[in-house]
Amino acid sequence: MDKILYGGDYNPEQWLHMPEILEKDIEYFKKAHINTVTVGVFSWGALEPEEGRYEFGWLEDRIDTLYENGISVILATPSGARPKWLADAYPEVLRVREDRTKMLFGQRHNHCYTSPVYREKVRAIDTELAKRFGNHPGVLLWHISNEFGGECHCPYCQAAFREWLKKKYGTIDALNEQWSTTFWSHQYQSFDQVESPSSIGERSVHGLVLDWKRFVTDQTVDFMNWEIGALRAAGSDKPVTTNMMYEYTPLNYAKFADSLDVISWDSYPAWHKRETAVTAEDTAMQHDLFRSMKRGQPFLLMESSPSATNWQPVSKLRRPGMVKQAALQAIAHGADASLYFQMRQSRGSFEKFHGAVIDQYGGCDTRVFREVEETGAVLEAISEVKGSITKAQAAIFYDTENIWAMEEAKGPRNEGLFRKEAQRKLYHGLRRMGLDVDMVCMDADLTGYRIVAAPMAYMFREGFAEKIETFVREGGIFLLTYWSGVVNENDLCYLGGRPYGLMDVMGLRSTEIDGLYDWEENHACPTAENSLGLKHTYTCRHLCELVQLRQTDGAPTEVLMTYGDDFYAGTPVVTRHPYGRGTAYAILADIEPAFYDEFFEILMERPETAVSCLVKGPLPEGLEVCRREHADTEYLFLQNFGKETCSFDLKEADEEEQVWQVLYEENPDSYRKPGTQTIRVGETVVLKRHLPIK
Ligand code: GAL
Repeated sequence: MDKILYGGDYNPEQWLHMPEILEKDIEYFKKAHINTVTVGVFSWGALEPEEGRYEFGWLEDRIDTLYENGISVILATPSGARPKWLADAYPEVLRVREDRTKMLFGQRHNHCYTSPVYREKVRAIDTELAKRFGNHPGVLLWHISNEFGGECHCPYCQAAFREWLKKKYGTIDALNEQWSTTFWSHQYQSFDQVESPSSIGERSVHGLVLDWKRFVTDQTVDFMNWEIGALRAAGSDKPVTTNMMYEYTPLNYAKFADSLDVISWDSYPAWHKRETAVTAEDTAMQHDLFRSMKRGQPFLLMESSPSATNWQPVSKLRRPGMVKQAALQAIAHGADASLYFQMRQSRGSFEKFHGAVIDQYGGCDTRVFREVEETGAVLEAISEVKGSITKAQAAIFYDTENIWAMEEAKGPRNEGLFRKEAQRKLYHGLRRMGLDVDMVCMDADLTGYRIVAAPMAYMFREGFAEKIETFVREGGIFLLTYWSGVVNENDLCYLGGRPYGLMDVMGLRSTEIDGLYDWEENHACPTAENSLGLKHTYTCRHLCELVQLRQTDGAPTEVLMTYGDDFYAGTPVVTRHPYGRGTAYAILADIEPAFYDEFFEILMERPETAVSCLVKGPLPEGLEVCRREHADTEYLFLQNFGKETCSFDLKEADEEEQVWQVLYEENPDSYRKPGTQTIRVGETVVLKRHLPIK
């Protein structure tokens, strides 16, 4: 498909008894520039109404008709929810919860991913689907299951977990050592004694909790691969994806990437709850996170609401223009699809009041439909961006295993580590300077980045410190915050000082970390004549790390800021250490956001930082700038999520560079080329220019 995918989840099986509705759907889809719908999600009951009796006729008829009308299909495997007959005949397919209670039939995503019966039944239906539709020209992509999540503690899962542990540790002594089980006499004598963590049992052995989470991820990926394997074995080689969720930390999504051809996620921001700019930035960070899972490749926005989202505490309507702005934001951040949940609102049950392209009234003369239609026209007009990629110069670590370990740890603060805020402050600081930012896991290859930031990198897995050392030595700019380099991959604390393996690079050793009560604060005060010219004093809260500077062979560590209060007043809180050809900065306390603004403004001006941006920061509040490129063209997306019209300066074209052309603009007469540009509230502008031949 040479167009940006536009459409969304569609459940024709809910309307088979009303053929006039199915007909209207096609007519309305075409009117709204819909070119792709996702079918089959949760359709198992309609596809296999009785064990072994497949009813695929209705699906074939829909796929054919859609295809004849120029609409392609993303075909889901139905494993996200099972029919009642299956749960009744084989109760093992339902989950056991962590408190060891057995689930009854109900809800969705209520399956054991280890159960041999569940796997066999899923494989059977996936095989039939693949044989029938796996090479259909109207099928674009496989959508494996739906939003994998949750865990099961049944005997099958316990046995699989023990096998997983045996493979990892080999001997029970090795497990005992890595889990530090001598503590409280929790030693195991054999693998058979190990039980998954439970609120009525063991949760204090952090190595166990961590490995269980790893196992749950591995078992879920294994289940997904089982499904993919069934499709492949039945002769379909269409690409595969699975839809992921916002900040969903129970699974380590990074481990899914290798099995998937394309990454997709479901975005349901609570637009209009907070300031639009705040929600937009939070959403942007997630887009970047999912995009970064396959660097150098676009991702898909698999679901979003065209109106209200009925499972949130308040089902707020999207204000006029928000549907388009949100769709374009996904594209700006590197998506090749902007899809909705859902195309037609259901009549009953759990999601009857969820926003949909076609609501229960059934006409196309609705506000939402008009906005969807308008958005479709815009996406069609910018089709050429499809396939272009984002090349970020900066990266921030976002690592699920690190989050798991840190949040479980019983460390310097058990009532809020403000981990997400630490990450956001860095993200905001970098984005505000006009940079595209990747959000990468700690195993990522750092080639091509100029700035790498590690907020609260508590766990250093093997090789991480070496990778950072190389990055800095070869000229990179590295930022490390407090509470970093503390434990190994099994949550065993490193001996001999921290940040483990990076004390020479950072030019310091952490000695202690102070947890602050919610009402306490300290201050970060600039030192006289600090080489960055930092001028202001900022508040520090929650966590304050104390360090000792370290004498290395290279340049000395410069103290840029010191604490203002308490017994550690006057000791370092922000430091700078030139190392090799690069520079390492330590930010040792949870400092307020304004610090990051000042810090990055200065950093961007320094020659050694060596990054270039098309729009020079600091950007006005709410302005988002993103860049995508093809081999011969670059695109610049500018979006105003702020509260006021804002202006910005586009970098002048160099001699060999082409001038910018407008690919899309909301108000043709308001947009002036060349000179200072303005962009009104809620507007998006897409510019393009040819790149000089390399
Ligand atoms: C998603 C899910 C969809 C639908 C949607 C409603 O999480 O994948 O099936 O339930 O939420 O917002």
